Amino acid sequence: MTPPDLPTELKSALDARLHGLSRSDTAERSAVISKTYRDGGGSTAIRSEADALAYALARMPATYAAVTASLNALAEITPDFAPNSLLDVGAGPGTASWAAAEAFSSLTAFTLLDANSALRALALDLGGARLRGMSYRQGEAPAELARADAADLVVASYMIGEIGEAERTALADLMWAKTRDTLLVVEPGTPAGYARILGLRAQLIAAGAHVAAPCPHDGPCPLQAPDWCHFSQRLPRSQAHRQLKSAELAYEDERFAYVALTRTPTARRPARVLAQPVVSKVEVTAKLCTAQGLAITKVPRRAKADYADARRWRWGDAVMKEAP
Ligand SMILES: C[S@@+](CC[C@H](N)C(=O)[O-])C[C@H]1O[C@@H](n2cnc3c(N)ncnc32)[C@H](O)[C@@H]1O
Repeated sequence: MTPPDLPTELKSALDARLHGLSRSDTAERSAVISKTYRDGGGSTAIRSEADALAYALARMPATYAAVTASLNALAEITPDFAPNSLLDVGAGPGTASWAAAEAFSSLTAFTLLDANSALRALALDLGGARLRGMSYRQGEAPAELARADAADLVVASYMIGEIGEAERTALADLMWAKTRDTLLVVEPGTPAGYARILGLRAQLIAAGAHVAAPCPHDGPCPLQAPDWCHFSQRLPRSQAHRQLKSAELAYEDERFAYVALTRTPTARRPARVLAQPVVSKVEVTAKLCTAQGLAITKVPRRAKADYADARRWRWGDAVMKEAP
């Protein structure tokens, strides 16, 4: 399992760029970028080198953690997957490429694409040594994707929410066309992020894709609104990050939704844990997604071995064996 915090190399590269910067200016830029994003303006507030850095300092640790958690879930289901090539769509500062490079040492070819020139410049500066041989195309995703070679692993991290619905449908088809093996799409863990994942999932299953994770099936999602499928990854917060966000806690919890789709069916686990289980001395109560639908499973203490297993379940885990 790859740890959720940024690789030391990347952390040091970001810290080095922080020296000499005004913390208050960076915090202000980061606040404007976040507000624009929340108001539906996507990444349009990132216009300069200083903006790109403020974005990376504020958001890269969390999006990296979410992509890493998704890649860990994928690797658990497909342990033999060893991609050579990666296509990172809407790559921004290269977050998902860094996460994929850590998760898969087999990767040797990194193609990143994004419309934003400031983020591209930062990604090239940060990733030059680690993401050897990276090619970073600047332009609109549909055009750049159409020109790109297919890759073993295609990733779109926190990207599809920045484009309109009709464009998104076309982009999903294009990304799938460029996927030799696996497509991973990660979104914020909000009801809207989940809805986008659900739409793309249904569209690509209809086109022949199979779900490797998180769902243990290719059927319709069994959750009913207002419930939605999402996960949470805890990650450490550096002192600089706490200052930037005026945050007190030494960690943050990033909520995310994701889907990993493969060209060939995978050996799935029977269930996925959809919330943190409640453990009592009498039983473990867990919300599970299964091929048969949603299950609120209770594992009594008297079923010793199953109870011991269920006590270790965590939100987001794939379950080896469904409890009785
Ligand atoms: C929230 S950022 C995420 C960046 C990166 N994937 C990450 O996880 O940190 C979304 C990125 O998508 C890019 N983007 C949005 N719409 C795009 C489009 N139509 N074509 C190319 N890039 C696009 C933005 O420029 C931005 O870099």
